[in-house]
Amino acid sequence: MDSTNQGIIFGSKEMNEPAPSEFIPKHMTPAETAYQIVKDETFPQTQPRLNLATFVTTYMDDYGTRLMNEAVGINYIDETEYPRVAVMCGRCINMVANMWHSPEKSEWKTGAPGIGSSEACMLGGVAAWLRWRARRKAAGKPYDKPNLIMSTAYQVVWEKFCQLWQIEMRTVPITYRHPTLDIERVIEMCDENTICVVPVAGVTWTGMNDDIEALNDALEQYNRITGYDIPIHVDAASGGFILPFINPEKKWDFRLKWVLSISTSGHKYGLVYPGLGWIVWKDRKYLPDEMSFSVNYLGANITQVGLNFSRPAAQILAQYYNFIHLGEEGYRKIHSNSMSIAQYCHDEIGSIPFFRNYTDKLENPLFIWYLDPEYDRKANWTLFDLQDKLMQKGWMVPAYTMPKDIEEMVVMRIVVRQGMSRDMADMLVRDIKDAVSELDKLEYPTPTRIAARDSKKHKGHVFTH
Ligand SMILES: Cc1ncc(COP(=O)(O)O)c(C=O)c1O
Repeated sequence: MDSTNQGIIFGSKEMNEPAPSEFIPKHMTPAETAYQIVKDETFPQTQPRLNLATFVTTYMDDYGTRLMNEAVGINYIDETEYPRVAVMCGRCINMVANMWHSPEKSEWKTGAPGIGSSEACMLGGVAAWLRWRARRKAAGKPYDKPNLIMSTAYQVVWEKFCQLWQIEMRTVPITYRHPTLDIERVIEMCDENTICVVPVAGVTWTGMNDDIEALNDALEQYNRITGYDIPIHVDAASGGFILPFINPEKKWDFRLKWVLSISTSGHKYGLVYPGLGWIVWKDRKYLPDEMSFSVNYLGANITQVGLNFSRPAAQILAQYYNFIHLGEEGYRKIHSNSMSIAQYCHDEIGSIPFFRNYTDKLENPLFIWYLDPEYDRKANWTLFDLQDKLMQKGWMVPAYTMPKDIEEMVVMRIVVRQGMSRDMADMLVRDIKDAVSELDKLEYPTPTRIAARDSKKHKGHVFTH
């Protein structure tokens, strides 16, 4: 190392040059300078806890963080070297399965870790497809036209799944009248090629829950009449760790007959830093054998279910730590606070005359709102301008258009998670109020407002709610 650089990081030649962006540099850079360059790349970003766009954990306590840091070099797949990590993972799967009322009797419940909900959703989808295919083959029927049904408010992972595995995606429109999955339409779309229906607990776009119990009842009747076995995979990316603590009586999980698999994100309301997901099947028999790969790795025979081979172990340690440390009581307290802080923000924002909340009651600690239609018609600004203004104060509060069929509707969303206090909520509400009163005074339309007017003119319709 060039000792002359020590202590004068900002006097070094590297600090006076553009950061490497195309080729690996020919020569070495002192560690403290390289560290500073990398650190400074992220310097102007929003503080993660002010990022109200994400569902993913941005706060963990010191012990959880320490455990993760200490395990940062452990590869989960090296089960021979780190057999206790595999045991810990199995215990986590057991706890998640029991939290969702798994009826499985075995010592180790059937499930798998994932890098996030995306991997877990893919595994749930593949299992449903393979089970359907095996049934079709056994009956001597064609198995080349599988389809999957969910609402248009799906998360993009389902589009990826359907593209990658060539499954037809049938989507039921979310409309003003049906803000969640319209079950009648689902049943109309079902046929012998439907591999599963995917309701969502904690819809990404709205924060609402699809009515999974009603879907189960409708499928029970439909399957009885048709003789089909169309099951449910619940995408509970957010709701999987909210419902058991906030609304334990609500039946949405394995208590329902046709729910055969559920996925969630450990790194959302499981309160672990990214990336961790979980999938659990109701019973071993619902996990097709083709999905378990036996690998002879470093002298041990490992059975793996997953898309990736290597994966970090630190998240699993952190999840196990959270389960021990927080217990049901801790999860309930943290999520109840998130719910009441979200409700507080929702009520405060809803009371600003320019705004309307999308729903009256919150089912998860997140919500969306939109501009009052009367005001929207004459305002010189849009929610995209408010997003920019809030970003200047460090808050990330996203504005976006709703899915197909109601895509002309622009909304704004806040996700409350562990790490958001009532005091922070008060600061946020004050910043929103200040920003909208400034925007309201604008005499000329902003570029986003001009673009919105143009696009409405072109479409030839006026947005009504
Ligand atoms: C309903 C839903 N499903 C799946 C995902 C994907 O989750 P992950 O980011 O954990 O892969 C998300 C992420 O927001 C989600 O909200």
